[in-house]
Amino acid sequence: MLERGIPAWSLRIRAAPRVRLPTVPRKHVRSDDIVQVWLVVALPFVIAAATDTFPAPDRPVAGIISPLYSEEAIRDLNREAQRVMDRLGIKPGVRVADIGAGTGYYTVRLAHRLGPGSTIYAEDIKPEYLQQLKARLDRERIQGVRLVLGEPRNSKLPRDSVDVAILAYMYHEIENPFEFLYRLQPALARGARVGIVDLDRPTQDHGTPPALLRCELAAVGYRQVDFVSLAPADGYLAVFVPPAQLPPIEAIKPCRLP
Ligand SMILES: C[S@@+](CC[C@H](N)C(=O)[O-])C[C@H]1O[C@@H](n2cnc3c(N)ncnc32)[C@H](O)[C@@H]1O
Repeated sequence: MLERGIPAWSLRIRAAPRVRLPTVPRKHVRSDDIVQVWLVVALPFVIAAATDTFPAPDRPVAGIISPLYSEEAIRDLNREAQRVMDRLGIKPGVRVADIGAGTGYYTVRLAHRLGPGSTIYAEDIKPEYLQQLKARLDRERIQGVRLVLGEPRNSKLPRDSVDVAILAYMYHEIENPFEFLYRLQPALARGARVGIVDLDRPTQDHGTPPALLRCELAAVGYRQVDFVSLAPADGYLAVFVPPAQLPPIEAIKPCRLP
């Protein structure tokens, strides 16, 4: 201790030589560098905020358990794909997306009906299912099908690329149907239709009650224009036209069955 109660360490600190830290020359810090750093830091939060604004469906979402609905031979015996394709007016020149294609029950039949040179997208979110589908297409010598790896909330189909989208036995598995339908709309060309095939049973049992389906699609502006039972095949086909203009996201309200 020194005089007047000042501790020795405090003097040592004051006496220490000033260290000059190296500085980055000013001319190297450009405004676009700052913007880039800002984007890297902020972008994940911006994206999270954007995806969170869609409401969750007010009912269970079924898990993904299989790349196909059921035995293809039995489905053919009941003329499922033929009837769905007829009802949707699938003929050469129509550009089709098989969304949730799985192992390709619809993809293969679409390819046979539309022939070479047609535009067929087979989309799924499971890379292993798309691998199986690719192997099948190679085996069956079907060329020209465009395989698309989508995301649970975004089919990732190109803008204005689809005249008819077929969603067979998969709607009840979509993590967030409102966001999915919202992000699908730009891929649908003018006059496009969306055909949804499903069972009339609760979503947790791998179906979608038709009234719930109609309400959820209407929430994003899609209008039902056709509905038919597929008996003796399973389930139903519901057909929708997309909205010319999407609603504001905050106006989308989930649906609940009575
Ligand atoms: C029961 S399989 C039906 C396959 C085929 N459509 C059929 O009729 O046999 C459901 C398929 O939908 C896919 N799927 C589930 N959620 C999806 C989503 N959000 N986007 C695209 N595919 C999805 C699954 O990976 C699975 O291949």
